[in-house]
Amino acid sequence: MTSVLVVGSINMDLVVTASQFPRPGETLCGSHFATFPGGKGANQAVAAARLGASVTMLGCVGDDSFGQNLLAGLQAENIDTQWISRIPGTPTGVASITVCEAENAITVIPGANHALSVEHIAQADAAFAATDVVLAQLETPLPTILAAAQRARLHGKPFILNPAPAVVLPQELLDLVSLLTPNQHELATALDVSGDDWRAQLASLPGRVVMTLGKEGAAYITPTGQIIEQAGFTVRAIDTTGAGDTFNGALAAFWRQGPAAALRLACAAGALSVTRAGAQSGMPTLAELTRFLEQQA
Ligand code: RIB
Ligand code: NA
Repeated sequence: MTSVLVVGSINMDLVVTASQFPRPGETLCGSHFATFPGGKGANQAVAAARLGASVTMLGCVGDDSFGQNLLAGLQAENIDTQWISRIPGTPTGVASITVCEAENAITVIPGANHALSVEHIAQADAAFAATDVVLAQLETPLPTILAAAQRARLHGKPFILNPAPAVVLPQELLDLVSLLTPNQHELATALDVSGDDWRAQLASLPGRVVMTLGKEGAAYITPTGQIIEQAGFTVRAIDTTGAGDTFNGALAAFWRQGPAAALRLACAAGALSVTRAGAQSGMPTLAELTRFLEQQA
């Protein structure tokens, strides 16, 4: 069993379903409202845990009811929450999400996620020492992510970075990344280049990028510059929120099986996740993933 330390965000997702996205100044009548546990960090932690990884989460919630519910939810997924801090007087992160025909538009209010500090990373040194792999995203402050990458390096642990939301990555951080997992837009932004020649962009980081291609699947560039492509799996999409997170959690959980196997498993897990509403609700267990792949054969 692979152990994964996830450093990242924890949000409550406030999800409105509507038949179209509202335009500025417009009032629309939607069809449905629900709250779901979310945040890229927590989503990736849950995805890895459902697939059998031993997961520890490092992050922050507020001292409100959202924070309490989210912590309980992570514990119910068998995730070690001892390194999650409750920040007094600060609201838990929330994401306002509109879902329309399986597409989504998301506004994140970071709240307590922005309190995750370099000190929290140092205090959790034992968690870095104990894990097989460290997985992070960019919904927490960049200096904190850099400190996490440095600590992973200190302990000789692979550092997987899902560079979402998209930002230009400082070279210092990029140099510490074992594996970068962007989508096409995030890759160009991370590398601060323009154009959509993703093959050329991948070539600048041989052996260190897995790129997601939405429903088309994913691609990996080997250390010798060969591109391995995994086609996407066809499913009936209900809500794509968290599909990338499911992919990342699965990739971290299965990376030790080698890139080709990990890509296939992660693409299948991501595909299954979009068949249900909410970021985490559709994330498969290992048994569900195995059954799905058997049906594909
Ligand atoms: O990647 C999806 C996630 O992004 C949502 O769960 C939301 O909380 C935002 O962080
Ligand atoms: Na979903």
